Amino acid sequence: MVNVAILGFGVVGSGVAEVLSINAESITEKMGCEIKVKHILDLRDFPGSPFASLVTHNADDVFEDPEVSIAVETIGGARIAYEYTKRALSKGISVVTSNKELVSTHGVELLELAKQNNCVYLYEAAVGGGIPIIRPLYRCLAANKIVKIAGIVNGTTNYILSSMKNKGISYEDALKQAQLNGYAEQNPTADVDGIDAQRKLSILSTIAMNGLYISPDEIHATGISALTLKDIEFAKKINSNLKLIALFENKMGIKPVAYVAPHYVANTNLLSSIEDVFNAVMVEGNCLGEAIFYGQGAGMLPTASAVAGDILEAATNKNFQNEVRAWHVSDNGQVSMDYDRVIVDIIVRAPAGKLSNLETAFADYDIKTMVNDDEDSAILVKKIAHSEIDSRLSKISGASYIHYLK
Ligand code: HSE
Repeated sequence: MVNVAILGFGVVGSGVAEVLSINAESITEKMGCEIKVKHILDLRDFPGSPFASLVTHNADDVFEDPEVSIAVETIGGARIAYEYTKRALSKGISVVTSNKELVSTHGVELLELAKQNNCVYLYEAAVGGGIPIIRPLYRCLAANKIVKIAGIVNGTTNYILSSMKNKGISYEDALKQAQLNGYAEQNPTADVDGIDAQRKLSILSTIAMNGLYISPDEIHATGISALTLKDIEFAKKINSNLKLIALFENKMGIKPVAYVAPHYVANTNLLSSIEDVFNAVMVEGNCLGEAIFYGQGAGMLPTASAVAGDILEAATNKNFQNEVRAWHVSDNGQVSMDYDRVIVDIIVRAPAGKLSNLETAFADYDIKTMVNDDEDSAILVKKIAHSEIDSRLSKISGASYIHYLK
């Protein structure tokens, strides 16, 4: 028997109890032993829940119980979750989590603590909800150099953008619906401002760099809150969809690039068709070529499915994971390139009749006319550094830009 404690009985924590309960027979068969939830630590009571009798408000009941070997941290945030995770790992209790904020900010320390105490810190559910992406990167793609990751990694913003486009509903209504469905963070600012995606990209980029830590602080994030319905509808004119993309690139001879920003994604790119709460992560390995990982990126059972998978993993192979999963901080400061120096493709849009102004402003770049109708003028500008964009745009009244992904 493996005894588990769930710390935080919210959407994901209660989902984990449910997954372990509904699939108990199959899990026992696979593992050769029962995985049992012994304690649930939460400030609240849950009268009427089938798990109500397991609830305790006293952390000692969990951490001083020698029978508990795995803790599920689904509290969220980086305060009490950080304290409890350290307490568990220090005692040799493995921790599995969906908490991308904690992993992305304290992963270096917590993974080291797990190693020292011969237990594991696993976080498959922290990126992509139910989609397997962390373990495939560590294991199946271990022989590759990861050269590019382009992902839709926030379900809430993808749900909002899809709902506005497909159902014609307002930003506020779409966000409300995402909250009701349990997709959004407790404070949805983290979703709509791109902070959640920034944290997830920090995790993916660090793994892609073989554990060389890329902190969320060095990843530029632009969210979706400044986007208008017009921006979303305009995508049709250039055969694209507007998506919040998290992008990592590690090319020979230049610093790695990592940022989050809205992109017009060409309809020829599979990421363009990812709708609602679904996430997709395109990974390019130098031997693999491109692969896409796709599935439900948020929500109770999909996320709990990934957490529960980590419980089973924690109950088995510890040494392998600790060796390959260690993260380390660079001796030379910031790892990734300054956002200003990053080279991107952009769609520059201005009111009707301004095509020649756009062409003049960007004449020294490779440009292509995309729209010239009675509402809009728009060009594609290829391979321009961020630092070059604003000064040129300021010369054309009503002009704006959004990144472009082929
Ligand atoms: N708020 C997150 C999202 C939850 O919408 O993707 C899953 O990490």
